[in-house]
Amino acid sequence: MTRTRVIAVASAKGSPGCSFVALGLAGRLAEGGVETLLVDADGEAAGSLLTVLGLLRGGDAPLLGGLGPVTVAAVEGAALAAGRGLRCLDLSGEPRALDGRQLADSCRERFGAVVADLGHQPGRLQREIVAAADWLLWVAAPDRLGFERADRVLGSGALSGISAALVLNRLGSDCLADAGAVLAERHHLPLLARLPESARAAREAARAGCPPQRSRDLRRQFTEVARCLVPDFEGRGGGDTWP
Ligand SMILES: Nc1ncnc2c1ncn2[C@@H]1O[C@H](COP(=O)(O)OP(=O)(O)OP(=O)(O)O)[C@@H](O)[C@H]1O
Ligand SMILES: [Mg+2]
Repeated sequence: MTRTRVIAVASAKGSPGCSFVALGLAGRLAEGGVETLLVDADGEAAGSLLTVLGLLRGGDAPLLGGLGPVTVAAVEGAALAAGRGLRCLDLSGEPRALDGRQLADSCRERFGAVVADLGHQPGRLQREIVAAADWLLWVAAPDRLGFERADRVLGSGALSGISAALVLNRLGSDCLADAGAVLAERHHLPLLARLPESARAAREAARAGCPPQRSRDLRRQFTEVARCLVPDFEGRGGGDTWP
């Protein structure tokens, strides 16, 4: 493995699947042998990733934040084990005194990949994480409302400045046929993946230990996204087709 990739995942509001995609990508990287840290940095929805992972908020781990520097040891102490090769750091909810760049630097020293769920309401911490990240992944839902919201937030420049890409999630019968192409062209973003609305994936994701990258409907797409963002990711582990 060469250099650690830090991948920030963001979206407009309306639950287009920002956490779902962050979790699926982090899970796929971990399964492929990349030691991965999933950071829940959603300033609005507290503890949603921990809940999906079946972990206890707070747990036994000390909280990260405060006046001291964000060291590797502090990250190590605060990250909860979420599966083989996967740890989860919960920074969701109320903003904490924490330097996002220091956080990214410390994570790079310890992990092979970092996937940060930024949610839809970026504040200081989220902007700092993006500034230190290698990729910003925008998740958009392709129905009319999802398209309009994504178009607005992408145009606002609320988060920008690094390599960015688009993931279209929840493709279903009510989606606009060209939503992905229009967003990609209008905002100069490569369209990295098109994930279907999958009732099976949602059902499976609701059961702890069966996160979205395991779903037969989405496994190939998550593998492709992981390969695009982490160039030496070979996609092994757990098999490319599941089960
Ligand atoms: N491709 C999909 N197929 C089926 N269900 C999905 C898909 N993507 C997301 N979901 C489901 O939609 C719901 C919302 O997804 P998620 O929590 O990831 O949205 P979000 O953008 O993070 O929203 P929030 O603003 O609440 O943080 C979840 O129950 C999730 O399991
Ligand atoms: Mg979320």
